[in-house]
Amino acid sequence: MDTSSSSRRIGVVGYGHLGQYLVQRILRDGPAHGLTLAFVWNRNSDRLRDCVPAELVLTDLSSFAERRCDVVVEVCHPQIVRDFGLRFLSQAHFMVGSPSALSDPDVNQQLRQASQQHGRTLYVPSGALWGGQDIQRLSDSGSLKALFIRMSKHPSCFRLTGDVLSGWTEDEGRRVLFRGSVAELCPLAPNNVNTMAAAAVAAGTTLGFSGVQGEIVSDTALRDYHVVEVEATGPDGFSVHTVRRNPAKLGAVTGSATYNSFWNSLLFCEGHGGRVYLC
Ligand SMILES: NC(=O)c1ccc[n+]([C@@H]2O[C@H](COP(=O)([O-])OP(=O)(O)OC[C@H]3O[C@@H](n4cnc5c(N)ncnc54)[C@H](O)[C@@H]3O)[C@@H](O)[C@H]2O)c1
Repeated sequence: MDTSSSSRRIGVVGYGHLGQYLVQRILRDGPAHGLTLAFVWNRNSDRLRDCVPAELVLTDLSSFAERRCDVVVEVCHPQIVRDFGLRFLSQAHFMVGSPSALSDPDVNQQLRQASQQHGRTLYVPSGALWGGQDIQRLSDSGSLKALFIRMSKHPSCFRLTGDVLSGWTEDEGRRVLFRGSVAELCPLAPNNVNTMAAAAVAAGTTLGFSGVQGEIVSDTALRDYHVVEVEATGPDGFSVHTVRRNPAKLGAVTGSATYNSFWNSLLFCEGHGGRVYLC
């Protein structure tokens, strides 16, 4: 669809915390920003009843193209990116809320190719990442030598696939759970490493998922916020170190500021050609 003159039609895939937030914002604030809701899909559509106008509920995701979207937003699960990402890009720009899916080199390459082939943009929201576009510029100019991201959270805020965090106690303080490449980290903590995955996409031309290093830290002192630290290293002694405190409720995987960050990212999705774009 032509996005230049008419309102942009947004399809939202997933109706958990982020999906509910985005749907409500599009319904409330979308018209003022030229956005309208084309559909909402959730694997359990009962959850949408009484929350979303019936005509906007999509029951079969395979028929999403009938809703003629300009942008499809995934806020669901990396599996949906793997299963539907190529189809979304064949019809619309695609904002991938679960960029940890791109840690699989095949998925990464296929989505980049589809984006080029169809002239649609694969948007990666920066989420809780500070300075993503600076990292991307440093990488694209070939000057990024190393990148390290540390995410520290209260243990109740982690959703890990293994039992590395079992048996934690409230008085145990700080514990490094894992340190390694973002490629190794993504399967271990797919819901906690999206910020690192966004950084790996930003550094895609130099370091990528296997070159960017990450660390996840459990810290029982962090009852009110998550901490995201980024250390970027360039040539001749150049370095940047940022520390972001992201207010978050106890047990929350996603920091409060990340919701608004997603909305701002969505406003950017106007079409930037067939490429990956950090927004
Ligand atoms: N990019 C970022 O900075 C960032 C920040 C927060 C969350 N995320 C990611 O965005 C996604 C949504 O986050 P959320 O906080 O809204 O999560 P959530 O758990 O609140 O909601 C996820 C929704 O997807 C559904 N779902 C889960 N697994 C599914 C599957 N395999 N197939 C189909 N549906 C499935 C759930 O039923 C739920 O409705 C997650 O993948 C999360 O990791 C990314």
